[in-house]
Amino acid sequence: MAQKNAPTKQNTTGSGKMIAIGGAKGGIGKSLFVANLGVFLSQMGKRTVVVDLDLGGANLHLFMGVWSLTHRIDDFLTLKVPTITDIMTPTKYGPALIGGGGGKLGAANIHFSRKLKLLRALKTIDADYVILDLGGNTTYNILDFYLAADQGFVLTTCEPASYLDAYGFIKMSLHRKLTRLFAAESTYRQFRDFEVEQLIKGFIFSNTSTNSRHMSDLVEQMERSKPAHHRLIKELLAGFRPATVVTMFDAQDKVNELVSRMKKVSEKMLSIDLKYFGCVPFEKQIQKSANDLVPSVAKEPDGVFAKALRRIVLKMEMA
Ligand SMILES: Nc1ncnc2c1ncn2[C@@H]1O[C@H](COP(=O)(O)OP(=O)(O)O)[C@@H](O)[C@H]1O
Ligand SMILES: [Mg+2]
Repeated sequence: MAQKNAPTKQNTTGSGKMIAIGGAKGGIGKSLFVANLGVFLSQMGKRTVVVDLDLGGANLHLFMGVWSLTHRIDDFLTLKVPTITDIMTPTKYGPALIGGGGGKLGAANIHFSRKLKLLRALKTIDADYVILDLGGNTTYNILDFYLAADQGFVLTTCEPASYLDAYGFIKMSLHRKLTRLFAAESTYRQFRDFEVEQLIKGFIFSNTSTNSRHMSDLVEQMERSKPAHHRLIKELLAGFRPATVVTMFDAQDKVNELVSRMKKVSEKMLSIDLKYFGCVPFEKQIQKSANDLVPSVAKEPDGVFAKALRRIVLKMEMA
């Protein structure tokens, strides 16, 4: 059916949007969300690719109704195949799939240039949307994909273990962004300054679970001792705009309370404006679809999941 919307197998420069889905660990609906968002965008006529970058539990293919993969990310990383399009699998629900698993991306010693190669290749895919399922990982390799995306989503449920984890994900990715302030991919690389790097390192290392420091401390410190670079940090913070999506909720007031708390904490501790794009309820029908390995929005294009995604995509497009 929606096969016609599958991206063409050619290696042109992609002009689409890269979306990365990260957040809390453990069965909160991230992969299900990626699969359904992919199918939903495809139903809108957008050429979409979903990519499984979950190091621990690569199973996105199952949610896309694909039982076994002929190719995966590792085949590209190990040069078994020459181009990223060689590892794309068509699916019957519209999006093309790049399946994960195998572990090379998670290997601590993966060569930096190889990770960059994958990232660059993902950015050249000729599609309207490339959606990355990052799992709940916070390794540098994964955070770098998150930071390279045009829009980052952070998923959480209303449970404390989940939202604390999601907040941790946001904080770690912001720290990673700070440490890459002058790195090769940064627009600020020509302003590289040793003292600023030391200030940032000092701030991050002294920021532990028992001693949580306010980002405003670093901003003030920069204002005092490195006024010329102060603007860069302010810009970096203003440009860091993750968006939360609450999954599997049972009561709307709990969602509102959680979102308002997460926004407040992010502003107070991290000096960032955390966006909120929407929520997906816990629904027996969604769970059943997940069990049947048929994306919910394919089964019910006007169902609860599709309605939730309509609002989320609208918010994303307005952001
Ligand atoms: N909105 C929802 N309503 C009902 N069940 C859900 C919902 N979202 C996720 N689930 C259930 O949670 C399971 C785990 O989801 P999954 O996407 O694999 O989580 P993650 O990728 O975060 O580990 C799904 O197989 C499904 O049974
Ligand atoms: Mg998953």
